[in-house]
Amino acid sequence: MAKPKVFVTRAVPDKGLDLVKQFCDADIWPESTPPSREVILAHVRGVDGIYCLLTDRIDGEVLDAAGPQLKVVSNMAVGFDNIDVPAATARKIPVGNTPDVLTEATADFAFGLMLTAGRRMQEGEQYVRAGKWQTWDPMLLLGVDFARSTLGIVGFGRVGKALARRAAGFDMKVIYYDPMARPDRDIKASSVDFETLLRESDFISLHTPLTAETRHLINAEAFAEMKPNCVLVNTSRGPVIDLDALYQALKNHQIFAAGLDVTDPEPLPLDSPLLTLENIVICPHIASASKSTREKMALMAAKNLISGLKGEYLPNCVNPEVYAK
Ligand code: DGY
Repeated sequence: MAKPKVFVTRAVPDKGLDLVKQFCDADIWPESTPPSREVILAHVRGVDGIYCLLTDRIDGEVLDAAGPQLKVVSNMAVGFDNIDVPAATARKIPVGNTPDVLTEATADFAFGLMLTAGRRMQEGEQYVRAGKWQTWDPMLLLGVDFARSTLGIVGFGRVGKALARRAAGFDMKVIYYDPMARPDRDIKASSVDFETLLRESDFISLHTPLTAETRHLINAEAFAEMKPNCVLVNTSRGPVIDLDALYQALKNHQIFAAGLDVTDPEPLPLDSPLLTLENIVICPHIASASKSTREKMALMAAKNLISGLKGEYLPNCVNPEVYAK
């Protein structure tokens, strides 16, 4: 029997790819950069499944280009703002994502960004490399304290909660803003409104999905409420912060520092004014990039894909309403 046809939009770790190849006739995009829109539209034609990444826009046009035999879209990411889910649901196509497996790696990284930006590690590192280190200096690169400071978490889902657990070890008080969050008695953290979080936090870490409501949630008005010693960290999605407003806030020392793993756009253009500032550390969307986490994500996405191809429920489906009779 012929294997189902799938388009895989990039080479992913073997743990996932091997399973896909075993079960499917896989067309795997060989480049290290994402396929263009034209390539996606051409390569999805006639496939039964699409295995994609957060860099690929999958919308109604792509789903229609694939054709009515398309059974599943599997995203190798927990976030799925790159996919027009209502368009998939309207066509009864289940969409899979990869929750849970990247929680700890992402929370580790968010905490790392807080430490790096708050304790000015990126500046220290550049200082040494530039040959500027002359002596121990009582005034050199003074940062902010963690112990007994307040961490404000925007979005108290899996990663937000994992960050709160880490903060307990640093003797920090944790507050969070998340109208949808379910209370968790095992984690010491208080729910507050957004304005209180902005006003009271010494550190703010963003863990919200990108939606119409959260786009530019952190804007000039939000920065105006923050403390001058505040360190802002983003490991969620770039457009949650208005980067022009962030530039002004950092340049004018309205806040102390920022740590970004995500930007808008990605990659951040080399002429971005943010790159002229010292009080920011920027990484290339690598918060989940530990070897074993990426293997688990690749495998989970492969299992979603194969379940969809078999007509079974996806282990992790973002639009389970497609199964309603
Ligand atoms: C995700 O899975 O949504 C992350 O952004 C990938 O690191």
